[in-house]
Amino acid sequence: MRAAVQHETGQDKLEVLDDVEAVGFGPGKVRVRMRATGLCHSDLSAMSGVLPQPAPFVPGHEGAGEILDVGDGVTGLSQGDRVLMCWLPACGSCPSCTRGQTHLCLAGFMNAGTPNFRRPGGGPSAAPTDLFGFAGTGTFAEEVVVPANCAVPIPDDVPYEIAALIGCGVTTGLGAALNTAEVEAASSVAVIGCGGVGISVIQGARACGAAQIIAVDPVAARREAALRFGATEAVAPGELADARQRITAGEGFDYVFEVVGKSATARTAYETTRRGGTLCVVGAGALDDIFQVNMFELFFDEKRILPSLYGGGDVLRSYDRAIALWRAGRIDLEGLITHRVRLAEINEALDQMRSGTALRTCIEI
Ligand SMILES: NC(=O)c1ccc[n+]([C@@H]2O[C@H](COP(=O)([O-])OP(=O)(O)OC[C@H]3O[C@@H](n4cnc5c(N)ncnc54)[C@H](O)[C@@H]3O)[C@@H](O)[C@H]2O)c1
Ligand SMILES: [Zn+2]
Ligand SMILES: [Zn+2]
Repeated sequence: MRAAVQHETGQDKLEVLDDVEAVGFGPGKVRVRMRATGLCHSDLSAMSGVLPQPAPFVPGHEGAGEILDVGDGVTGLSQGDRVLMCWLPACGSCPSCTRGQTHLCLAGFMNAGTPNFRRPGGGPSAAPTDLFGFAGTGTFAEEVVVPANCAVPIPDDVPYEIAALIGCGVTTGLGAALNTAEVEAASSVAVIGCGGVGISVIQGARACGAAQIIAVDPVAARREAALRFGATEAVAPGELADARQRITAGEGFDYVFEVVGKSATARTAYETTRRGGTLCVVGAGALDDIFQVNMFELFFDEKRILPSLYGGGDVLRSYDRAIALWRAGRIDLEGLITHRVRLAEINEALDQMRSGTALRTCIEI
């Protein structure tokens, strides 16, 4: 079957190959025919080495499809079920799961250590090459084999491409506002970085009733998009200090979300937060990029620093909340998809994200 492959860390283009096999099917596993997948910036970060991911691998972790086969012992899923791909599946029994923080369950990361694709070696006698799936999934493929708890059934009225976005960007951004920061009604919010995840934070802050939502992004098209999705004002990074002065009388915003994944923007976000306010870090950054706060400002300004992983709460509940808001027309998910490409043209999706041309590109499989 066809899949997009990253042979080595640092390559900036994927190779679409027809000789990839999804492997590992057996007890406790399901085989999924992918139908739609989104490109999330974490895929680019895994390709470039910002996020740790062994290579070669098949990127993609924001996807949805249909169950083709169910392994022995799998309950609650059958052939033909429509599912979305959960890249942080819950084991259901570890301390994090028992507390309801299934997004902190580490069991799912065990999948990431097992290759779930293979392709033939170079010559007739060469050994086949094992390939990992990014974050244990690898949705840039026609078929994926994953543990059953990575496949979460979706209601009939949720199209595949909407479900795909709920599989990462939407859940991450909405959850940061609703679960992690718990944005208060009538508060002031700034969102630094307005890609698919940042726009989902904006939609979450609007759903929470924020009074002011300031979108910050260097790309004009992203700022315009942010205004359509509920930002009350959009500024370039160089205009943020002035906006803070003007909008909050120099005090700083009640909530500032970092949705880029760099220490420099996290530091700007910290400085843009009011004393006693909340900095919520959503961006996924590198191991060697150090965010610094001095010990005096840390205690004296009492700013709350809240990181948010995959929506910061029970993952299945986060999906349900996203679907409920979408169904009620309180958030726009169709509008997030500005471009569509086929798997064979996946490198166009990478370019569209790097340039900021697309908000989310949906890859139809
Ligand atoms: N916490 C999590 O669980 C989680 C989950 C998914 C994605 N992420 C991360 O969230 C981040 C955003 O993902 P995305 O898919 O929306 O990416 P994206 O590339 O679509 O958007 C990032 C945006 O940041 C903007 N930007 C770049 N430099 C900036 C600056 N100095 N100031 C303001 N904006 C700036 C870019 O123009 C772009 O619009 C990434 O770091 C991604 O890895 C985290
Ligand atoms: Zn667990
Ligand atoms: Zn993601």
